[in-house]
Amino acid sequence: MQILPSPEESITCSGPHYDRAKEAKEFDETKAGVKGLIDSGMAKVPRLFIHPPQNLRDLSSDTAGSATGLKVPIIDMMGCQDSRLRRDVVDDLCRASETWGFFQIINHGIPVDVMDGVLEAVKQFHEQPEGVKGEWYSRDDARKFRYYSNGDLFWSKAATWKDTLLFDFPFGEPDREAVPLLFRETVFEYEKHVEKLKGSLSELLSEALGLDSGYLGDIECMDSKRIVSHYYPTCPEPELTLGTINHSDATYLTLLLQNHNGGLQVRHQNQWVDVSPVPGAILVIIGDFMQLVSNDKFKSVEHRVLARRAGPRVSVLCFLFPGETRKSKPYGPIKELLDENNPPMYRETSFTEYFGYYLSSGNGLNGESVLPHFRVSEPK
Ligand code: OGA
Ligand code: NI
Repeated sequence: MQILPSPEESITCSGPHYDRAKEAKEFDETKAGVKGLIDSGMAKVPRLFIHPPQNLRDLSSDTAGSATGLKVPIIDMMGCQDSRLRRDVVDDLCRASETWGFFQIINHGIPVDVMDGVLEAVKQFHEQPEGVKGEWYSRDDARKFRYYSNGDLFWSKAATWKDTLLFDFPFGEPDREAVPLLFRETVFEYEKHVEKLKGSLSELLSEALGLDSGYLGDIECMDSKRIVSHYYPTCPEPELTLGTINHSDATYLTLLLQNHNGGLQVRHQNQWVDVSPVPGAILVIIGDFMQLVSNDKFKSVEHRVLARRAGPRVSVLCFLFPGETRKSKPYGPIKELLDENNPPMYRETSFTEYFGYYLSSGNGLNGESVLPHFRVSEPK
């Protein structure tokens, strides 16, 4: 989950001939993001965005899993309201959550025009004149809506090739006035459908864990929603940078909508597998916290986005995590999943503690899982 910066992360790319902080500040002050660099005719990736070689391993799609025939599972949810077919959907979700932690769902109930509407609105936002969108540019986390490029710009080792919009959906009625006109219908409409889908997935995943369908709902682990949308402009030198660095999400669950321009990859069986866009599909990503409460039954998984010459890529992510009143309460491996053969693999922790560690260690944003920090038993 690339939504908040890590204050402790040190800046490593500064040196006597290169003032990284100055370049970052100048870039930030344009309020025009990476899209602004492209619009100004920039034909080279600025140094601020150039990643160290260890981040750029296996970038070519030729070495990604497409060559090995690995394919992210696609699960048809059509049958999930039918008591006979529901079992099959639950089994498919269970297998995909145990093996990949990452799968596409179709016939999930969100109308295509609602999905297209939100993707198009995001694209239009970024493609309007710089002065207009610049008014929304902010790093103030208290804002319900903001536009920025690289939440960790001032302390990451290298910036990534994308611009971002963030919508916060706390409890209660969302504040329509807080977002640009473009989003007042589209994003709120999408959010309504996402809320329903979340309810279905919460029940189906509870059943997949062998629990009552209301279990995950009752423990209120997915009551907060953050919609984050990334716009990845075309990139003149994609071999030097990344759209999103490899990471796993700190959430319980992430729901991801993407347009037809690919670039997303997931790590499976030690290789990067291209996630080909499937029209009408929503991607479901198991987050670190779901792995923790499921006691390693479900797997959170590393993923990343390549910078590409083709584009722009637009993604709309819905991050799901505990609501305000539950954020600081402890969660641990679900008791019903434990017995003498299945001891708890993790200690209890709150989402606030977990996410704080994810950010402060810098690990979450550096491609290293932070789950091991909370582990108390070694995997079998
Ligand atoms: C994220 C993420 C992927 C994408 O923001 O956590 O994985 O397609 N984004 O933008
Ligand atoms: Ni992610």
